[in-house]
Amino acid sequence: MARIIDIAEHRHEALQMASAVLSEGFPVAIPTETVYGLAADATNAAAITRIYETKGRPRFNPLICHMSDLAMAEEYAEFDPISRALAEAFWPGPLTIVLSLKAESRIHALATAGLDTVGIRVPKGFAGDLIRAFGKPLAAPSANTSGRISATSAAHVDADLGGKIRLIVDAGASTVGVESTIVKVEDGDLKLLRPGGLPASEIERVAGKRLRRAGKASAAIEAPGMLASHYAPGANVRLDAGAVKSDEALIAFGAVDVPGASDAVIVLNLSPCGDLAEAAANLFDYMKKADASGAATIAFSPIPDEGLGEAINDRLRRAAAPRE
Ligand code: TXA
Ligand code: MG
Repeated sequence: MARIIDIAEHRHEALQMASAVLSEGFPVAIPTETVYGLAADATNAAAITRIYETKGRPRFNPLICHMSDLAMAEEYAEFDPISRALAEAFWPGPLTIVLSLKAESRIHALATAGLDTVGIRVPKGFAGDLIRAFGKPLAAPSANTSGRISATSAAHVDADLGGKIRLIVDAGASTVGVESTIVKVEDGDLKLLRPGGLPASEIERVAGKRLRRAGKASAAIEAPGMLASHYAPGANVRLDAGAVKSDEALIAFGAVDVPGASDAVIVLNLSPCGDLAEAAANLFDYMKKADASGAATIAFSPIPDEGLGEAINDRLRRAAAPRE
């Protein structure tokens, strides 16, 4: 069983305990502003293997490597001018940049799935402090069983992986609530590999150019391992619902009266005032609650495809995709 340690009261002890577990080559569940991560020493093959085993994650799907700051990232990867400008503007924060690995980099090939690139992110708060204390990058995918809904609280992590890991660091609910935005500069082009917690428009403003998006319909998303079916609750998922049936759960958005809502199994509103940041922060928790209601299907109200809505709709499409 995992020990859960709350940083509100035991921050210093949490840093020490987490560093000790990482040094022994075991993963630790840590809070980040996006979602909780399952972190391990990115230079240690046995530690990284334990991440893949704990999540049941396919090993062709590379892990994001978390750094304490841009200076640490520059020890491991080559920065082109656009990537550096984005790092300076948005780190620490919900942005992952895919970069060329330096030849002498000590990041283990298991973390990058053997690619010559690495996805790097500098997280805020406790995670950043932990990396600084530990002194090495942390490979960290989201702290959930592969294919399931990501965790945005220590309780989510405990329910999913608590029996398999030693330590969960609790910092309350993740403030952003969806995973980082992933970008890559390639042949002068700026590509959006995954929409996420940093809106595309902010990235375009700093980069001074448009983001090129992969086709929304394509299952072979450009970030390897971004499988179409992901974020899957146990229930079926129905998108853009204009009305809800009596055997369905409803996840609504905004101040809209959805016909049938009074008879639905459960009704949750991501943001009654229509705020997309609030909706993103509530998304995974409400999906888990709707799933736990026992409804056979979760119906979602339409969500505007702008700003953070792009990331929310991406996750909902994956949740609704046919299961493998
Ligand atoms: O917010 C986040 O990004 C969270 C927190 C914990 O930092 N992490 C996260 O990790 O979402 P994960 O493993 O669930 O998703 C990482 C994504 C995968 O789709 C993977 O394919 C992609 O990043 N990725 C990692 N390295 C890559 C690379 N070198 N090239 C392209 N995609 C890469
Ligand atoms: Mg994930």
